Amino acid sequence: AKKAVLEPLVGAVDQGTSSTRFLVFNSKTAELLSHHQVEIKQEFPREGWVEQDPKEILQSVYECIEKTCEKLGQLGIDISNIKAIGVCNQRETTVVWDKLTGEPLYSAVVWLDLRTQSTVENLSQRIPGNNNFVKSKTGLPLSTYFSAVKLRWLLDNVRKIQKAVEENRALFGTVDSWLIWNLTGGVRGGVHCTDVTNASRTMLFNIHSLKWDEDLCEFFEIPMEILPSIRSSSEIYGLMKTGALEGVPISGCLGDQSAALVGQMCFQNGQTKNTYGTGCFLLCNTGRKCVFSEHGLLTTVAYKLGRDKPVYYALEGSVAIAGAVVRWLRDNLGIIKTSEEIEKLAKEVGTSYGCYFVPAFSGLYAPYWEPSARGIICGLTQFTNKCHIAFAALEAVCFQTREILDAMNRDCGIPLSHLQVDGGMTRNKILMQLQADILYIPVLKPSMSETTALGAAMAAGAAEGVGVWSLEPEDLSAVTMERFEPQINAEECEIRYSTWKKAVMKSMGCVT
Ligand code: G3P
Repeated sequence: AKKAVLEPLVGAVDQGTSSTRFLVFNSKTAELLSHHQVEIKQEFPREGWVEQDPKEILQSVYECIEKTCEKLGQLGIDISNIKAIGVCNQRETTVVWDKLTGEPLYSAVVWLDLRTQSTVENLSQRIPGNNNFVKSKTGLPLSTYFSAVKLRWLLDNVRKIQKAVEENRALFGTVDSWLIWNLTGGVRGGVHCTDVTNASRTMLFNIHSLKWDEDLCEFFEIPMEILPSIRSSSEIYGLMKTGALEGVPISGCLGDQSAALVGQMCFQNGQTKNTYGTGCFLLCNTGRKCVFSEHGLLTTVAYKLGRDKPVYYALEGSVAIAGAVVRWLRDNLGIIKTSEEIEKLAKEVGTSYGCYFVPAFSGLYAPYWEPSARGIICGLTQFTNKCHIAFAALEAVCFQTREILDAMNRDCGIPLSHLQVDGGMTRNKILMQLQADILYIPVLKPSMSETTALGAAMAAGAAEGVGVWSLEPEDLSAVTMERFEPQINAEECEIRYSTWKKAVMKSMGCVT
């Protein structure tokens, strides 16, 4: 017999760089009822290149949905209570596909990919008017990170894509668009759309007018007909076409970092969160005002929760490599077998013993924006062992966060009194304590680390025509907070931090 669940449920697809998840929440308490997770392969076909298979990404979403529904069935929960689905995703990753066959025309070029370094150099020679042309419209520096240059590369180098564009068969999208198009029917009437938060990461989107920018498309030579339509982050885009949840509306869509901001209820000016995923992303809500950074941060769209609702902006500090350094220690060095093991190794020593690790695998993002930086491990002696390296890797994540928090404090003028955190890595208690020590402010972690998915579920549940989530704090009663207080003295911390900065300088001197 099915267990009666009185409250409506909301599902969320969280398609991250390292893995895909589907999670189902109770919309009245935010309790996580069930979930399933599948790791995603990353290919590195050449130095600096990072690709994924768009079809594997899509299959992983279907698999996670089906497995989660099975698990709910085993718990006696009727899946017909799922009233809406939200999608949140790794941002910037670029997919081009054929709208007649549904086939991707190339691998997904992942946000971390550096192949466009020369594209960026060439474009920066040709910036029209003043150097502020791209930044003033998009809030972003001209960098390999964003979709426009990846799409430019694909149009220049992939014959199949050139031909599909000529024959009006090509569609471009970030991962949200690729998924929503497929989930709503694909070649049989799939909806080709994106939301304002994902659009704001393409470098083709004007963050003031909230439209594709004709001048930018001309500058990057992007045919506008291949771009998706732009929607708010909370509205019904279409219905699930197949599978256990056929007919359920997809009504939330946000880039994963925006989703985490919503999931942490950072709705007020100045509220800030840091998410530890493949990379690490610190976002501060700046309200309805676009604030431009003087210290290497991005201006980005935070969310727009409804067609007629106002848009909110954020300042963002982006760090390319956080959880990815743990995966690298596992897959490339083999010093751990599972990601969780890193905590055990780090705990054994409790210090890096003078070893510093700058994981600049994809260059350095905020606040440096230096694509030619490369990773280094320094300060090694014969005494150094894998435990010290593991500790240094965790410390690197915390130091990078410190650098962006310092930049944020300088831009905002008011130092942050505490940091709200989330993401898979926050389950690592050593990391959380280190973070509090290195920032010298308390770190607050929700009991449920899947805040990103929660934000997408909230946006989906709150959409007009769904209306099962009110976005009030009482709807998050199942989420409690854990607090980590700084324990080491500030002086000791400053010494470590300044040595870290020297190591960063070394990483930027690397010749590739
Ligand atoms: O901008 C890239 C970001 O959205 C990736 O997020 O969770 O895969 O580290 P994540």
